[in-house]
Amino acid sequence: MAEGVAARVGSGHSTDRRPVIDVRLAADHVARTLRSDVRVGLTAAPKWLPPKWFYDARGSELFEQITRLPEYYPTRAEREILTAHASDIADVTQAATLIELGSGSSEKTRLLLDALSETGMLRRFVPFDVSEQALRKTADTAAVDYPHLGVHAVVGDFTDRLSVPRSQGPRMVALLGSTIGNLLPDERARFLESVRASLEPGDWLLLGTDLVKDPDVLLRAYDDSAGVTAEFNRNVLRVLNRELGADFALDAFAHRAVWDPANEWVEMRLRAERAVQAWVGGAELSVLFKPGEELRTEVSAKFRHEGVDAELHAAKFTPYRWWTDSGERFAVSLARVV
Ligand code: SAH
Ligand code: TRP
Repeated sequence: MAEGVAARVGSGHSTDRRPVIDVRLAADHVARTLRSDVRVGLTAAPKWLPPKWFYDARGSELFEQITRLPEYYPTRAEREILTAHASDIADVTQAATLIELGSGSSEKTRLLLDALSETGMLRRFVPFDVSEQALRKTADTAAVDYPHLGVHAVVGDFTDRLSVPRSQGPRMVALLGSTIGNLLPDERARFLESVRASLEPGDWLLLGTDLVKDPDVLLRAYDDSAGVTAEFNRNVLRVLNRELGADFALDAFAHRAVWDPANEWVEMRLRAERAVQAWVGGAELSVLFKPGEELRTEVSAKFRHEGVDAELHAAKFTPYRWWTDSGERFAVSLARVV
């Protein structure tokens, strides 16, 4: 974790290729930031926590399982769009650097890397994620599979102030998987503004957004029959237990997914099935849940075309293209910086 930058090997042998891993989180990031988030969120009414704490190594692995669940359509719908349009995206943007925020496994991103490599312009891939283990795996795989690219991975929090590398030629920032929907509206606005501020005219933003649809379909995607999403949701308590020496009884909490029609978002919650008292040693905090009391762990906003365009305009991006899958469940927008 404290390690700064890994070795860069430029010998030219593709088997020697090593990605650069740039750790932009302080060594005590988890302890300090998690502690302050816990102090704020678990003393609020209603209780809440920011979603980035799901993603330790186990959380990232559980998310990968979610993407393969029959009920979780967003990954498949977005892959359908990228399969159909990656070459258009490459032709239009001529991107030389692809920066992917919240990259996770970058599995769908390969469609972009392939298409952008075909243009002959792409030089660099910059996966950026808060989950260090997942990112290292992604970076290592990309370095092997795309030996013509410089892979420069960044371990960081994209809600902090962003800085993206300079590039000879256009840059494209991608945020896939509707990860933007996990931010609250004001956080979203600040996030888009900070992405915009880090870019220059000629650069691009590629944004994946899940769309408003039948609430039953939505809720099934966040409450699957195999219980993987429930495990993923409870993983945040495991992180608190491990990182802050807390003693949450995981089996006391039930997973809940709730559609909020006014905000057009799905809320993920953990509901205490009985009275729960927990001690969070690392935050010197005693937390009490009444029976039935809920902790909000995440929102997943669902979007409409007008809304996405309005948010892009507000952050001074110029919407350029909007693509949906054949079922109109998910959208990918391409926006430019002019
Ligand atoms: N892009 C992938 C993964 C989406 S899951 C896909 O479309 O399938 C969301 C990813 O964003 C996870 O890998 C998580 O670790 C990362 N993430 C969540 N909050 C983050 C933050 N604040 N800063 C950086 N990465 C974050
Ligand atoms: N970005 C994903 C989404 O909103 C994250 C996600 C999928 C998620 N399933 C989840 C977050 C379950 C919390 C709980 O779809």
